[in-house]
Amino acid sequence: METGVPVRSVKNAAPGAIEESVNAQRTAKWLVIASGKGGTTKTTTSLNLAALAAAAGLKVGILDTDEQATLTKWHRRRERQDDVPSLRLFSVPLVDLKRGVREVDNAEAAEGLDLVIVDTPPGLEQRERISELVRRADYVLVPTSQSTADLESALEFMAAISSLGVRAAFLLSRTNQRWGSYRLAKKMLNRAGTLCPVDVRQLRDIEATHDYGLGINEFNKAKGADDLEAVWEFIRKVMEV
Ligand SMILES: Nc1ncnc2c1ncn2[C@@H]1O[C@H](COP(=O)(O)OP(=O)(O)OP(=O)(O)O)[C@@H](O)[C@H]1O
Ligand SMILES: [Mg+2]
Repeated sequence: METGVPVRSVKNAAPGAIEESVNAQRTAKWLVIASGKGGTTKTTTSLNLAALAAAAGLKVGILDTDEQATLTKWHRRRERQDDVPSLRLFSVPLVDLKRGVREVDNAEAAEGLDLVIVDTPPGLEQRERISELVRRADYVLVPTSQSTADLESALEFMAAISSLGVRAAFLLSRTNQRWGSYRLAKKMLNRAGTLCPVDVRQLRDIEATHDYGLGINEFNKAKGADDLEAVWEFIRKVMEV
């Protein structure tokens, strides 16, 4: 997608007008993936949606704000792969959020980006910064498993961000559809807010996306590709990207 404003206009801008010009050029939409809890598939969802978005021809940035740097390590493995669309990585911990946002904005102004996917750390210790990130988001995806602990935490997180006026949806992930808790989880999340209509099943092939620096769509006949493709279709529709 074209940024619409030549980069030169920023370079020639009067002092003080630079930030404004960068803002005026912003075209990338931000998808923040957060849940306030550990192990809810935030990173797996981020990397797979990024690969799917890139396969759809979008210029994708991924911002890893987690000090564990799981997404960054996945990206390192990806760089050793041939013939996969490249993703623009920004690896800046949440404590340094302002710098992270600045790096993305600068890259967007210089190179153009269509979609920025932000992976977040577990825990809510940095509430202020998570709120800042959520305010900046065009959409927030809140992944959760069907376990009671994860569900409770996802519901609390959604309630906490609802006052920030951002659009958001739950994503039921790593599901086991044969267990009774699956139906209950769907019912509970549906009642509490928007729920992505397709869930992501617990599958080894999806777990394996971490190992190779690939998205599930980049494997040959992987199980679970349908799940994540449908989640991507949902995101694409609601975010209009
Ligand atoms: N659909 C799935 N099927 C099987 N395993 C999965 C699936 N999704 C994620 N996993 C695995 O579950 C674990 C947790 O996933 P992930 O690292 O994405 O969660 P996270 O929310 O980013 O965790 P953290 O809070 O530690 O950053 C990982 O080992 C991952 O490979
Ligand atoms: Mg993670």
